[in-house]
Amino acid sequence: MSTTTISATTSQHSTSTSRKKVTTLAFRQKKERGEPITMLTAYDYPTAAAIDKAGIDSILVGDSLAMVVLGYENTLPVTMEEMLHHARAVARGAKSALLVGDMPFMSYQVNAEEALRNAGRFLQQGGMDAVKLEGGRERADAVRAIVGAGIPVMGHLGLTPQSIHQLGGFRAQGKTASAAKRLFEDAQILEEAGAFSLVLESVPARLAEYISRHVSIPTIGIGAGAGCDGQVLVTHDLLGLFDRFTPKFVKKYATLYEVMNKAFADYIDEVETKRFPAPEHTVEMNDEEWDAFVKEIK
Ligand code: KIV
Repeated sequence: MSTTTISATTSQHSTSTSRKKVTTLAFRQKKERGEPITMLTAYDYPTAAAIDKAGIDSILVGDSLAMVVLGYENTLPVTMEEMLHHARAVARGAKSALLVGDMPFMSYQVNAEEALRNAGRFLQQGGMDAVKLEGGRERADAVRAIVGAGIPVMGHLGLTPQSIHQLGGFRAQGKTASAAKRLFEDAQILEEAGAFSLVLESVPARLAEYISRHVSIPTIGIGAGAGCDGQVLVTHDLLGLFDRFTPKFVKKYATLYEVMNKAFADYIDEVETKRFPAPEHTVEMNDEEWDAFVKEIK
């Protein structure tokens, strides 16, 4: 097995102690072998450490940060500085997963030069291994410039949340023949521009599978069916950290909102009824020192 392959690492899960760093080449090799690529989002040190230890292939510091951590209605308000702040925390927690920094709204749309400068910041100041940006043909120049500087780029097609105002909301894409054709062409353009991988979000499963079969780079699906080369979910959705709406394509593997809510309620109750802190949570001082203290202050 080559030093860059990751097949042996993904089944180690929570028992894994150390494993090899996952690279973009490993992504490609997994696609060639037909092994699904796993990706989750993270925005902080402890979550990144837990995901990395579980054996994930890749962690995305998504601009979903804006919604699931910072409480905004959409992803548009989050800034480069905020993304870098969270990227650094994730990089401190995850040592093996391929780390992808999500370029926020207006950090790459103005021109290719600005896109390259901001992509560079994710590697230089954020500890990321690669960047992700949204869009197809209109982003080809930016992708070429970034890849040309040696920075791996992950594309993102379909429902691209930074364009919700243009798309008319969070809605599935590529459902008509002409929209599907345009999406497929965009995938080919991103591949040609040098992207190493491609997120397909909220597109019909049969279209995602077709694209996955007809581009050489791995596709990572979210709401795009089982025919993609890998899957990504927003970790807060997977963990059920909210009691609010989550999209149909999310599978909740836990309902941590309820667990957290109960823990907070129990704490409040125990403080109010003076059951916390108990003796075992308390620092002791021996009688001799206490008597000396009392004498001192008299
Ligand atoms: O920001 C994000 O979390 C994403 C994923 C949904 C792919 O872009």
